Amino acid sequence: MRVGLGTGTTARWFILGLAERVRQGLSIHAVATSVASATLASEGGILIEELGADGLDLAVDGADSVDPALSLIKGRGGAMVREKIVAEAAARYVVIVDDSKYMSRLRGRVPVEVLHFGSARTLHTLAERTSLEFTLRVGPDGAAFITDNGNLLADSEYAEIADPTELATLIASVPGVAGYGLFLGMTDLVLVGHSDGSVEQLTASGDTVASGG
Ligand code: A5P
Repeated sequence: MRVGLGTGTTARWFILGLAERVRQGLSIHAVATSVASATLASEGGILIEELGADGLDLAVDGADSVDPALSLIKGRGGAMVREKIVAEAAARYVVIVDDSKYMSRLRGRVPVEVLHFGSARTLHTLAERTSLEFTLRVGPDGAAFITDNGNLLADSEYAEIADPTELATLIASVPGVAGYGLFLGMTDLVLVGHSDGSVEQLTASGDTVASGG
């Protein structure tokens, strides 16, 4: 199997679990969505390769916000451009969240990856078209956060998103945007973990299956 590996604290647990299965003899090839996930996977004995033209069988990732249509906000870790390429390439895209991230409407900050050239103008145009403020993300050292792709990252203000498709269209219309953290119509299955250990399975067709922890 060819498996896409997400990025973030949730994806980390998936990668560690997968590495355990590989040690037990499971044979897979994987594509990582960040340098951090590639390093973690390699250390666990998972074979990492480039994303090929023939795509992937499965990709598994976390998310920041999930709505009942299984639309997502992603990118708190800044890896959403590679994550979206991998999600799109996968025959099956599975997202794992805890129940605090499942909500009736997408809510939170939508991150946008921005090219360095003209970034001040790009932020201005983003704000003008979306009516949201965008600020450049800074790292713990106070310097501009740079993505694995060498670009800047801008976060919109916290908002409840009434129409994710419209917002995605507006963001995508701005030159200088390399990608953004709205994932619409891509998710096949969401696994929602509850604090009692139970897991709900939400499918794109609207089916909900509860299972034990
Ligand atoms: C990485 O850029 C993000 O898209 C993460 O996948 C997402 O923010 C979920 O992260 P956590 O699992 O750390 O909450």
